[in-house]
Amino acid sequence: MSFFWEKIARPVMFRLDAERAHSLGMASLKAGLARPFYNDVRYDEFGEIERFGLRFANPVGLAAGFDKNAEAIGPLSSLGFGFIEAGTVTLEPQPGNARPRLFRLPEQEALINRLGFNNEGAAAIAGRLLSAERNCIVGINIGRNRHVPNEEAAENYVACLKAVHKAADYITVNVSSPNTPELRDLQAEASLVKLLEGLMQANVELGRKPLLVKVAPDLSGEEIDPIADICVGIGIDGIVATNTTVTRPGVDEGTAKKIGAGGLSGKPLKPMSLAVVRAIYRRTNGKMPIVGVGGIFSPRDAFEFISAGASLVQVYSGFIYGGPAFPRELCSGLAEMLVLRGFRTLDEAVGSAA
Ligand SMILES: Cc1cc2nc3c(=O)[nH]c(=O)nc-3n(C[C@H](O)[C@H](O)[C@H](O)COP(=O)(O)O)c2cc1C
Repeated sequence: MSFFWEKIARPVMFRLDAERAHSLGMASLKAGLARPFYNDVRYDEFGEIERFGLRFANPVGLAAGFDKNAEAIGPLSSLGFGFIEAGTVTLEPQPGNARPRLFRLPEQEALINRLGFNNEGAAAIAGRLLSAERNCIVGINIGRNRHVPNEEAAENYVACLKAVHKAADYITVNVSSPNTPELRDLQAEASLVKLLEGLMQANVELGRKPLLVKVAPDLSGEEIDPIADICVGIGIDGIVATNTTVTRPGVDEGTAKKIGAGGLSGKPLKPMSLAVVRAIYRRTNGKMPIVGVGGIFSPRDAFEFISAGASLVQVYSGFIYGGPAFPRELCSGLAEMLVLRGFRTLDEAVGSAA
């Protein structure tokens, strides 16, 4: 971790309310203040990284929710991310939940958020992305508007997909945020089939792009298997595992109670996300590309996800705690680990411990 981040910038940022700090961070990125951390390091150690028909410069991505409105794609990619997932984007703009709605738990190196899909809406975000500088793969994560009941969710998602399709390299269907009431119920078999079939049909009509599904870490083994089977059956291109948890592992009761509802991310989430990645990898015999996300703070963490079956990884909380040099450090560290362990490419390591 850089001296500047650990001793100067982070202490200042962490004294601010977490959402304010995030806005300040975004403003700094847009103003080019992170330029000293820009780099375009190439990693030959990974070999070619082709996933669902797209070529990735490196396997470390920025998870959904950091740049919800796709405002800083250029600067973020310049920090060394191999891909960025913008959103969650909803068809209509919406303000999200009341503040405060984002909290740090520094002792646990975790975050709790109940933002509730605050975003500028599909049309505005797609328009911005189409004219943005982009030097990495950009996915768009889509969700449903809060006021839309689950019975009408499919139509709402399809309209959102149509609005963002042109601007996205890939699209992720978010059915796992805990902060939109009943959204996670869309992971149930009948609802999921209806939703994904509708989305796949629209996707094919518009010119097929990779369609991924993002799942929750709070699923039991029996719940994961049917989801994986449905995704394979419908021809989904990849699964993002996982979103935040509604449980509070490692958080004392008092703190949990004080903060209240929301999704927990960061270090305490890792074992849960890893277990889901492993379960999906096994169920799909390693044939479904998995994007592993949840509590990745070090190259060793990233390697654990890769060896459990993830073929790409994403970070959010690790970036908040680790700062602007984090994506590059994670990438170089992971590349070094592959070499040390005798893997000639990233692909050789995927699922090697599953
Ligand atoms: C403040 C915050 C906002 C988030 N917003 C979204 C979102 O809009 N859509 C989504 O799919 N995931 C969202 N996430 C979840 C992350 O993409 C990621 O799945 C999760 O935080 C686990 O990764 P991490 O432990 O590296 O943070 C959000 C996470 C945080 C901390």
